[in-house]
Amino acid sequence: MTELEVSRKLRIDSSDVLARPRRLRLTEGIRSLVAENEITPRQLVMPIFVKEGSGIKEEIESMPGIFRFSPDSSLDAEVSDLEDLGINAVLLFGLPSKKDSSGSEAYNPSGVIQQAVRRIKQMIPEMVVICDVCMCEYTDHGHCGILNGRGYVENDKTAELLGKIALSQARAGADIVAPSAMMDNQVLEIRRALDASGFENTAIMSYSSKYSSAFYGPFREAASSAPSFGDRKSYQMNPPNVREAIREAQMDIEQGADIIMVKPALAYLDVIRAVREKFGLPLAAYNVSGEYAMIKAAALNGWLDGKRAMEETLTAIKRAGADIIITYFAKEFLSSKLNSEKSPGRKK
Ligand code: PBG
Repeated sequence: MTELEVSRKLRIDSSDVLARPRRLRLTEGIRSLVAENEITPRQLVMPIFVKEGSGIKEEIESMPGIFRFSPDSSLDAEVSDLEDLGINAVLLFGLPSKKDSSGSEAYNPSGVIQQAVRRIKQMIPEMVVICDVCMCEYTDHGHCGILNGRGYVENDKTAELLGKIALSQARAGADIVAPSAMMDNQVLEIRRALDASGFENTAIMSYSSKYSSAFYGPFREAASSAPSFGDRKSYQMNPPNVREAIREAQMDIEQGADIIMVKPALAYLDVIRAVREKFGLPLAAYNVSGEYAMIKAAALNGWLDGKRAMEETLTAIKRAGADIIITYFAKEFLSSKLNSEKSPGRKK
C-alpha cells in the first residue's frame, strides 16, 4: 500500500471505531495494568562510600542524602536500613586514609574496602556485595592506574594490578567485582587472577562502556578522586561514539564478563538501547552522581518534583533496556515505595 492508501484506510477505520487511548489512562489501577515497564526493586544497586576511620557518617555536599560511612557500627546501621527496605545489592567504594603513587591500599588485605566487605557479609550473608575495582580513589595523583614517567596511564601494568585488587576483594568475600578503570584487557586479567586462586565463582560486572563524563563531578568530590592533572580522556570513552561502545562490550564479553554496563545512563540512553539489542548478557546502567545531584539540586530549590523526577528517570533507564540500575536513589526509591504501599489503594 502507498502512504496515501494507508491514510485513506485509516480514515475509514476511524470513522467506524474511534480510537480512544485515554480509556487506559483513566485510573491508577488501569494505568499500572497496562504499564509496559516497571522498575524492579531487587535489581536496584545502592552505591556506598566507605571511609577509613571510626564513627564516621558525613554527608557529601554535592549529593544531599548520601553519606560516607566508616567500616564499623556506622556502616552496619546503614546496611541494615538498606536490608529492611529490600535492597538486594550494594556497590562499595573505598576511601583510604593514605594514598600513594601505586594505589597500594586498594589491595591491602585489611584495607578499608576489605574490612567493609567482611562486615557486610558477616552481618547479612544474602546481600550481594559488589566492589568497584579501580585505582583512582587510592592513587595520590587521582588517575585510574599507574603512570609512566610522562603522565600516561600504563595499561598492562595497571590491568595486572586490577587483577590483584579484585582478588583481594574476592578473598574478603565480594560476590561480584566491577572493574571501572577502562584499561584494555582488564577483564581478562581479573578473570585469570580470580581463577588462578580458586575464585572461579566470583562474577565480573564490567563497566564495559564507560564514557569520559562531566557527570562524575560529585563522585570525585565524594571520593576525593579527581585527577591532579589532565583528564581521563585517554582511557574513558569519547561521548560521540556508540559503535565503539558495542565493541568495548563485545571485548569484555569475550574476556569473561558476566554482566556488562553502560555508564553514565541519562545522556547515554541510546547506548543502553544499542548494547541491549546486541547482547543477551545482563546489562547494568549506572545512574551516576551528577545525574543524582541535578535532580536533588532542582528539587531542593522547589524547581521540580524530586520524587516524580526520580521515578521518571529510573523508568527511562529501564525502558531503554537496562536490567540492573545502579543508583544513589535506590534507598529513597524503595522507602517512598514502602510509604505509598502503607497507604494503598483508594487514591486517584
Ligand atoms: C572509578 C569510578 C568513578 C565512578 C565510578 N567508578 C569515577 C570516575 O571514573 O571518575 C563515578 C560514579 C559516579 O559519578 O557516580 N573510576
